Amino acid sequence: MRDVLQIHGGTPLEGEITVRGAKNFVSKAMVAALLGDGPSELRNVPVIRDVAVVTGLLELHGVTVTADQAAGVLTLDPRNVESAHVADIDAHAGSSRIPILFCGPLLHRLGEAFIPDLGGCRIGDRPINYHLDILRQFGAVVEKREQGIHIRAPRGLQGTKIELPYPSVGATEQLLLTAVRADGLTELSNAAIEPEILDLINVLQKMGAIISVDTDRVIRIEGVPRLSGYRHTALSDRIEAASWASAALATRGDIMVRGATQPEMTTFLNTFRKVGGEFEVDDAGIRFFHPGGDLRSIVLETDVHPGFMTDWQQPLVVALTQAKGLSIVHETVYENRFGFTDALVGMGATIQVYRECLGGHACRFGQRNFYHSAVISGPTPLAAADIEVPDLRGGFSHLIAALAAKGTSAVSGIGLIDRGYEHFTEKLAALGAEFSRD
Ligand code: EPU
Repeated sequence: MRDVLQIHGGTPLEGEITVRGAKNFVSKAMVAALLGDGPSELRNVPVIRDVAVVTGLLELHGVTVTADQAAGVLTLDPRNVESAHVADIDAHAGSSRIPILFCGPLLHRLGEAFIPDLGGCRIGDRPINYHLDILRQFGAVVEKREQGIHIRAPRGLQGTKIELPYPSVGATEQLLLTAVRADGLTELSNAAIEPEILDLINVLQKMGAIISVDTDRVIRIEGVPRLSGYRHTALSDRIEAASWASAALATRGDIMVRGATQPEMTTFLNTFRKVGGEFEVDDAGIRFFHPGGDLRSIVLETDVHPGFMTDWQQPLVVALTQAKGLSIVHETVYENRFGFTDALVGMGATIQVYRECLGGHACRFGQRNFYHSAVISGPTPLAAADIEVPDLRGGFSHLIAALAAKGTSAVSGIGLIDRGYEHFTEKLAALGAEFSRD
């Protein structure tokens, strides 16, 4: 597949597309299958590269994975789990951050795990200190080696009491995947409670785990000695749904996103309405459209759930370049998620980034050297440009900008977008976008 899209922009995106299961849930549910003593079946699985990467990693560890891509069904049989060779795992280094979540399950199954250098999007340092601290608290021995990190559990894993410094999604998942089969009770305070995490808890409960989610971000787990396989339908991808919604707004279009669900998108929908977008929710999905007239500027702060997701921020910023007045966006989850705005400025947007915490509460990046607030002044027409995709969500935002801009843009590196957006070129075609891939 070639890696550059020539986009002839300026046409409203109109039509209907379907989103399937959430990337940030499906990959974790696949890892959870490692904990079972029988096969699992996961439904509503999208065809994206992150699923292929996790499939490859599971296969390296002896899990048999079979996929019916059209039906979106994966079966995962972990009955022959074995240690993978370091060199093989290392070949996957750089392609995903998921390997870190293999630790708990592999420690339970094999007593050891190896984690290659981690990839993922270039949106900040993305350290793994919380993950390693959690594993150590369960009794694991962590050793940093040249090619990666080697982890052992010579005396098994014991339940523990932990408070996260920040409600990290990955660290909460790490804890869940480790605690469910650890010896005794585990309590996590300041846990992340994203819908994708609650659906992972659904999966683990189906497997036999005992987990309660209390008020105030406290999760309690009673370890059990064995877990079975599961059958589960993944919740829908609310990041992809919001990305298409922002594309509808930025191009003055009208997109029916089948599969989009309201409860997980409440905060996005409020913001979408405040900006001037309209939507209609029905059982099949959500229709997002630009009603005509001017969009309105807003003040927005990203946050952990139930706040406005950081992954919704970048696509929406493109729409905000078309809103009347000054919008302020304060990014509080990642320290470095405005790099993608450089390309938008190159296309004619007026966006300035600041180190200060603007328009909201002081966040942990406040007194540090990070450009994590943006002021967007609009509306500004966007002009076509040649753009290099920086990361998954920033890349999709660039696509939206190119679709909104008059003229022909060349967007290169779009292979990155396949990581998290299923069949996105087919969907663009279905929405009437004019483009060619070369
Ligand atoms: N953090 C640490 N130490 C750690 C772990 C996290 O300091 O050990 C910090 C991070 O640097 C970041 C913050 O905590 O500043 C939040 O990170 P979190 O752990 O919540 O993020 P993640 O688990 O690495 C997942 C998604 C991201 C999404 C975030 C926030 C997956 C595979 N990735 O990342 O999705 O932005 O949660 O909701 O689930 C994407 O889909 O494009 C994407 C980046």
